[in-house]
This record gives sequence, C-alpha cells and structure tokens, in this order.
Amino acid sequence: MKPIAFALFLAAVAAVAAADGFRVDLIHRDSPRSPLYDPSSTAFDRVRAAAERSALRPSRFARAGLAASGDTSIEAPVLPDISDYLMEVELGTPKYKVVAIVDTGSELIWANCKPCTRCYEQTPPLFDPEDSSTYRDIACDSRACKLLPSSVCISNSNCQYEYTYGDGSQVVGNLANETFTFTTTGSNTIAIPNITFGCTHQNRGIFSNRTSGLVGLAPRQLSLVSQLGSSIDSKFSYCLVPLSQTNATSKLVLGNGSGASGSDVLTTPLTIQDSFYYLTLNGISVGNTNISATSPTASGSPNIIIDSGTMLNILSPEMAYELGKAVKDIVDLPVANDPELSLYAACFHVKGSRDYKFPDITYNFEGAPLKLGPLNTFLEVSQDMVCLAASSAGELQIFGNIAQQNLHVEYDLGANQLSFAQVDCANF
Ligand SMILES: *[C@@H]1O[C@H](CO)[C@@H](O)[C@H](O)[C@H]1NC(C)=O
Ligand SMILES: *[C@@H]1O[C@H](CO)[C@@H](O)[C@H](O)[C@H]1NC(C)=O
Ligand SMILES: *[C@@H]1O[C@H](CO)[C@@H](O)[C@H](O)[C@H]1NC(C)=O
Ligand SMILES: *[C@@H]1O[C@H](CO)[C@@H](O)[C@H](O)[C@H]1NC(C)=O
Ligand SMILES: *[C@@H]1O[C@H](CO)[C@@H](O)[C@H](O)[C@H]1NC(C)=O
Ligand SMILES: *[C@@H]1O[C@H](CO)[C@@H](O)[C@H](O)[C@H]1NC(C)=O
Repeated sequence: MKPIAFALFLAAVAAVAAADGFRVDLIHRDSPRSPLYDPSSTAFDRVRAAAERSALRPSRFARAGLAASGDTSIEAPVLPDISDYLMEVELGTPKYKVVAIVDTGSELIWANCKPCTRCYEQTPPLFDPEDSSTYRDIACDSRACKLLPSSVCISNSNCQYEYTYGDGSQVVGNLANETFTFTTTGSNTIAIPNITFGCTHQNRGIFSNRTSGLVGLAPRQLSLVSQLGSSIDSKFSYCLVPLSQTNATSKLVLGNGSGASGSDVLTTPLTIQDSFYYLTLNGISVGNTNISATSPTASGSPNIIIDSGTMLNILSPEMAYELGKAVKDIVDLPVANDPELSLYAACFHVKGSRDYKFPDITYNFEGAPLKLGPLNTFLEVSQDMVCLAASSAGELQIFGNIAQQNLHVEYDLGANQLSFAQVDCANF
C-alpha cells in the first residue's frame, strides 16, 4: 500500500463525512449556465420541451419493467438525455472538466474518453485516460465488473461494459477507477479517489453533443451515492430553484443536508423498487375534495417514483382526471384546451388578468401531507394560458421537479426515509 495515497483517501472521506455534506451546483439544462441553453428559445418553448420530455420518461421506465421480466436487451431504464439537470465534475490528474447529465433514474457514471470511435461528435474535447496519473482500468474478476448488467473481458483482463438505455441508446467502454473532483460551495474543491466509472469509447443513440458524461444517482451499487455510501452517511439531497429564477443555481448535497429540522420537516417512507426511489402516495387533497390513490396504484403501498429529471407530475389516468376536475371546480377562470394534446390535467385562459388565484394542492404521502402552492403545481405554458403541472402521460406515476421546487428533498438511504422541508433554494 502506498501510505501517501491512503492518507489522501482517508482525508477526503473524512472531509465528506464531517458535519454537513458537500454541495455542488445542479445546473438546469435550460439555464444560462448550461451548455444546452438556447438563448433564442422562450420560457414557453422550454416549458413545452420539458413537458414533452416528461411524457417520454415514464415510457422508458415502463420498458424497464419489461427488462425486469426477462427482456435482457434493455438493461438501464431511462434515456439519459431526457433528464433536466446537469453537473460539472473534474476527472483525473491533472483535472479535466466534464459536463454530465445528473440522473436519479440511472446508475452507471460515465464519461466519453479518447479514443472515442463511433461516438457522437461532442463539442468539448475528450478526456484522455492516458494523460491521467490516477486512471486505473478495472479487472474482469473485480466486484464492480460483476455488478454490471452486461460486460465482456477485453485485452489484459480489463472489464468492458455495454450499457443500454431504455430507447436502445448505448455506451460501451472500459470500467475504471479515477479521482473525481467536485467544486463545492464557494470555490472549494473536494477530490475523491477511486470512483468507479465507465470510460466510454463507443456510443450510439440519442445524446447531446454538448454534454460528455453522466452521473447516476439511482439506488444501485455503481451509482455515485451508493459508491460514496457511508462516507456520505448514505444521504443525499437537492434543492431546486424555481425555473423563473434564472440567476440562481440549484444544489445537490452529498451527505448530511442543511440540518433543516423541526415541525416543518415532513418525513415519509422511501422504498427502493426496480432500482427507483418510490414513495407511497395515499391521495391528493384540493379544496374540499380528497382524491384517493386507486388501483393499480392503490394507497398504502409504494406507488409513485420521485425523480429529479422529470418536470411534470405523472399520475394515473383516474387521479389526473379527478385532480383536473377538482381544480376546474375551484378555479374561477375559463377552462382552456390543452395546447399539448391532453398532456396537462387542466388548463385555463388567463388573458387580461394576472391576479388569478389557484388553490393549494396537498399530496398526501404516507405520514407527510405535503401542501404545495401554485408555484409547485401550475405552469404558464403560454402568454395567456396556465396549466396544472400534472399529466397522465405514462404508465408509472412520477413526482416531478416542478412539485419539488423550493423544497429541500433529502434521501436517507440508511433509514429508508425521504424528507421535505420548505426552503428558498436560491438562498440555500
Ligand atoms: C485505489 O484503490 C487501490 C486498490 O484498492 C489502492 O491500492 C489505491 O491506493 C487506491 N487509491 C487511492 C488514491 O486511494
Ligand atoms: C451539436 O448538436 C447541435 C444541435 O443538435 C447541432 O446543431 C450541431 O451541429 C452539433 N455539433 C456537432 C459538432 O455535431
Ligand atoms: C477501485 O476502487 C475501489 C473502491 O472504490 C477499490 O475497492 C478497488 O480496489 C479499486 N480498483 C483499482 C484497480 O484501483
Ligand atoms: C434573481 O432573480 C430574482 C427573480 O428573478 C430576483 O428577485 C433577484 O433579485 C435576483 N437576484 C440577483 C442577485 O440578481
Ligand atoms: C446531520 O444533521 C442533523 C441535523 O442537523 C444532525 O442531527 C446529525 O447529527 C447530522 N449527522 C451527521 C453525521 O453529521
Ligand atoms: C380529506 O383528507 C384530510 C386528510 O386526510 C381530512 O383531514 C379531511 O377531513 C378530508 N376531507 C374530506 C372532505 O373528506
């Protein structure tokens, strides 16, 4: 053992475990800091595109269900490019910046590496493992290699992965260990050695050429949160700023969160199922109406995925219908036709007036009645139309990121609990 390297490793882990966790910026893909930012698109264009992505994500989830029942050609559930947040991470020694998709719905961490033959043509230069003194290929007989859904042994007994997403998109490369450096609050950095990731040398399918990797946060062993494990107290959290606050940045916290505590924190059971984070939604209350979760997504059992990458709440057709009806009964505005072909559960004309009132909507999670105001439940989809940020466009229910704005959402994988605390995420 090299004593210096070992001491560095301990120092890094100790720093992570100390007091609070470390915070990194979560960049919304449509914010000015994102390489995907398109200044020529309007806020309404972005909402429309995100709504369309929301409608696509659950069908990827649904295909994951197929994979579980024997279709082994589909191994990783979600199409990564259909995720709303990005983060920057520096790989290797010397450090090399990667803009990565962040995905609570997928596992493998990967980055495109030199040489990338048969790859999409990415705008940023490729990470070159040969230039990094901390890069180590991982052997076929290693534990990490055996955790992969599909791998082969290549020259020098190195582990090569073939990772296929729900739509058939695929990344192929060498499983390796590398030092990851994260920029935390201010401009402090934290370097964590020996993170296992995929050094991708081939890919196909739908990826954005302005991103060069992915950080998986799903509850599976190769994801970042699982690898950091006890060094982050098996906890991570995020705080998403409202979409309209384009000058503020959302945060991802690896480790203990803000220390938000007291009666304002709601806690609900978190269930890991099919590699997703599931919550138990017993019903939704709006005004005097209580809508119960109905079969096949009945109350009392885990029935809704919590996801950072999907914008809308996706509900069963019955719940979406009942919620839309209850909201239409209360809101004193003309009902509008959904511009997105019945994607939204309800829409209203708001022409002329800006002082309209929308009701609070309470999502009754097991033990946690989460009361959400209009910021978390309605979207301005055009100049003169506001829609409920809920849809039935999918086979699985998802609690999406509009509903999670200005909440500190903490996943405690040790206690199998998820907590919500109302926070101003711009000042988090
Ligand atoms: C990475 O893991 C290897 C094998 O366990 C170990 O020899 C090495 O010291 C570790 N590197 C660092 C920087 O901790
Ligand atoms: C990257 O993608 C954009 C948008 O799809 C496209 O306009 C551009 O030509 C692509 N660049 C490269 C280098 O492929
Ligand atoms: C890779 O890192 C893991 C710890 O994350 C360690 O157990 C393993 O031995 C390392 N392998 C190599 C080849 O460095
Ligand atoms: C950021 O934007 C919000 C609203 O969009 C505004 O209230 C706030 O003052 C801005 N903050 C800064 C630092 O510009
Ligand atoms: C995490 O934060 C909570 C709330 O501030 C605190 O009670 C707990 O001791 C912290 N845990 C660790 C491991 O620092
Ligand atoms: C709706 O549910 C809430 C919480 O379970 C309860 O307090 C309230 O009385 C119910 N309202 C109606 C109209 O059933």
